[in-house]
Amino acid sequence: MPAPSGSPLLPRIRLLATGGTIAGAQPSAGGPGYKAAVFSAEALIAAVPQLTDRAEIEIEQVAAIGSQDMDTATWRKLAQRTQAAVDDPRISGVVVTHGTDTLEETAFFLNLVVRTGKPVVLVGAMRPATAISADGPMNLYNAVAVATHPDSADRGVLVVANDEVHFAREVAKTNTTQVGTFRATHRGLAGIVNSGRLHLYAPPVRRHTAASEFAPLAPAPLPRVDIVYAYAGMGRELLDAAVQTGAGGLVIAGVGEGNLGAEAVQAAAAAARKGVAVVRSSRTGGGVVERNIEVDDDGLGFIAADELNPQKSRVLLMLGLTRSRDPLELQAMFLSY
Ligand code: SIN
Repeated sequence: MPAPSGSPLLPRIRLLATGGTIAGAQPSAGGPGYKAAVFSAEALIAAVPQLTDRAEIEIEQVAAIGSQDMDTATWRKLAQRTQAAVDDPRISGVVVTHGTDTLEETAFFLNLVVRTGKPVVLVGAMRPATAISADGPMNLYNAVAVATHPDSADRGVLVVANDEVHFAREVAKTNTTQVGTFRATHRGLAGIVNSGRLHLYAPPVRRHTAASEFAPLAPAPLPRVDIVYAYAGMGRELLDAAVQTGAGGLVIAGVGEGNLGAEAVQAAAAAARKGVAVVRSSRTGGGVVERNIEVDDDGLGFIAADELNPQKSRVLLMLGLTRSRDPLELQAMFLSY
């Protein structure tokens, strides 16, 4: 539904709302506890009247969930609605409101499956809409500013929070509660945005959106890919259980450079021999996982995650498995996206 606007000459933005803390409410201001996804997208927009000077905003409520409940069905719906929006010649860009917990996964998924050069911007908030000094209103204002800016085109999906602009591939949530939670450990910020004034830096380095082989999203079902977290003394039980219960792919959140103990390596190798794709990522939160350093990836048929953290490795592996089960072809994808 169209929101009130300041001028017919303003750019037109489609806002796709999914819930999250940005739409959350506390039982009492400043008190503990809150419920995500309480306020409608219309209410979020109404709380930032300055938006009427920036854009005509069309609102679509795609979901109303805390992002811990984000799943592949909702990803598919969101991808379809985002693609429909960017394919509409009246629309200049898309803003997606989203909980912060899994925002980085949704952003990377859309970065791989939406075919467009138009800006697509995800935005969340760490404090509920009713909190003292809620961060949602400024984040939303900045997100609309980024989505309407011509320089934001052809940069893949962007994430806006705390006056910062991040690339979908690079960004990760790194803190449970603080407003500066989003960080990009490898390549830094895409830019900054001060009260709507945008300063962008270097473009993204890997394939995305219009250059992605996964865009637009195909109807083929996405296979189940599980993440198994490595630790000192890890055995093989969780890996075996994942395979026995039907996982088509495994991502190991390995210690250090994607390592895992000898018994777990044997279980992962057995999984690979059965045709289950095995990706070695790292639980460290930063750095590259390269092939054949301490693990014989060539011999065991494993894939090294390069810079992708476990949750983003899972997204790419799900999509990759719709194209190939060959470890070397999947490896090439991890070096391209
Ligand atoms: C959520 O991810 O939906 C809850 C947490 C947040 O949005 O900050």
